Amino acid sequence: MNHNLTVLQLLLAALRAAHWSHWTSHWQVKGNSFYGDHELMDRLYNSLIEEIDTLAEKIVCDFGYEAVHPAPQAQTMAQLLIPVEKNSGGDPLQRALFVEESLQVFFKAAYNYHKKKDYLSLGMDDFLMSMANAHEENLYLMRQRMNVPRKKMAFNKYNPTELVAQLMKVLNNSGLVTTTDYLKRHRVPQVVNEAWMNRHMVEDFH
Ligand SMILES: [Fe+2]
Repeated sequence: MNHNLTVLQLLLAALRAAHWSHWTSHWQVKGNSFYGDHELMDRLYNSLIEEIDTLAEKIVCDFGYEAVHPAPQAQTMAQLLIPVEKNSGGDPLQRALFVEESLQVFFKAAYNYHKKKDYLSLGMDDFLMSMANAHEENLYLMRQRMNVPRKKMAFNKYNPTELVAQLMKVLNNSGLVTTTDYLKRHRVPQVVNEAWMNRHMVEDFH
């Protein structure tokens, strides 16, 4: 079994499940904020189409057309959606928030796994990073809508990747966009992450 493929298939199913869920929420929202919520869900599910398409094409390119057969994908989607449904108590907005929070976990896990296995082309690296970034915006929209208090995150000095991510956030929130752009352009977060992921190589020298 090729685990690189399994991770990508799982990520594809997660994106398709998110699309399915947000599209359903688009129909199910109701009440005073109906129109705004209906439009918000429209924005969320539509943003996923291009990501799903790109990932599926990358999978077919590397592993052949059998890798994206519909029935196994639908089965995985159902396995992912059933606990989501339980967790959100059937509320379409709660479900959307939970889906976006879960997607961040999937992006991080897929990125870290492929990095470790040395199966991360520059294109895939960029693709996963951009998706995570775009979905952070979705998360922001959902948290604002649901009035979820921002999680207070302490700096984790033992994990440089998280530390750099926090630093980028602080710079961004303080309006220092030129600085964050400069750091991004020079791939500073990626370089730090790579060094952190490959730290065992340095340790091996000792
Ligand atoms: Fe519609």
